[in-house]
Amino acid sequence: MKVTIVGAGAVGATTADNLIRRNVAEELVLLDIKEGVAEGKAQDLAQSAALLGFESKILGVTNDYAATANSTVAVITSGIPRKPGMTREELIGTNAAIVKSVAENLLKYSPDIIFVVVSNPMDTMTYLALKATGVPRNRIIGMGGTLDSARFKYQLSLKLNASPADLNALVIGGHGDTTMIPLIKHATWNSVPVSQLLTEEEQAEIVQKTMVGGATLTALIGTSAWYAPGASSAAVVESIVRNQNKLFTASVYLNGEFGESDINLGVPVLINKHGWEKIIPLKLSTSEQEAFHKSAAAVRAMNQVLTE
Ligand code: 2OP
Repeated sequence: MKVTIVGAGAVGATTADNLIRRNVAEELVLLDIKEGVAEGKAQDLAQSAALLGFESKILGVTNDYAATANSTVAVITSGIPRKPGMTREELIGTNAAIVKSVAENLLKYSPDIIFVVVSNPMDTMTYLALKATGVPRNRIIGMGGTLDSARFKYQLSLKLNASPADLNALVIGGHGDTTMIPLIKHATWNSVPVSQLLTEEEQAEIVQKTMVGGATLTALIGTSAWYAPGASSAAVVESIVRNQNKLFTASVYLNGEFGESDINLGVPVLINKHGWEKIIPLKLSTSEQEAFHKSAAAVRAMNQVLTE
């Protein structure tokens, strides 16, 4: 199995680090447009093999797509990250052209490749990758909901003093500060509904902190986060490569599901060797449905920018 990561910045390199530590891929290719960066990071990662005991072969290349040939999965992290005070949506002008060309180049050398899209604005970049490549929709997965759900569990764990691994919680909708929908009424702590344990105020606070999770880190660090984004991308890749059938929220192309069409939005999906195999239906309340359609409208407006 070969995995390619495009963009050897912090998120790409952290994804690679997570994957090699778990021996997910026999071969891992790190590709970046900046001369020497992917080569350097690949060597740095490979030099940890003796200490961490992994066997993956790691190759770093500068813009050489031939080296990615016959990859099973590619993680696209290319483009610019946001700076403090910016929204993910403000990145569209720069990142759209980059993501389109990256997706097309990858497909040339790996016709059956599955794409995991991380670049922002993530739902629109996922939609763009689908339109640019024309591959079946199950082979394009936007990673945002997996990350947002992990951040949701983090916030819940702080309030409940619980282990994050004991929490089940999903964030659906767009991967934007105002478009994501942390489904607090569906969240459980080992099957116990958290809404029975937390006041309405506490629930609202957790939802709010989850929604601005990425922006909070950007303000603190000065640029976009990478540890949880890298861990989320690696978890999705692992479920594909090892055919784990894990359920994640991911941005996928909707064709009537959840009452939306011709749009990529975060919904619960089963992820395995086929990419995302099926969308898992979820009974939403009226207010959750309204929030979902509102989120869709915002993402659709962003998608319009692609055709302007
Ligand atoms: C984040 O939320 C990178 O969009 C990503 O940190």
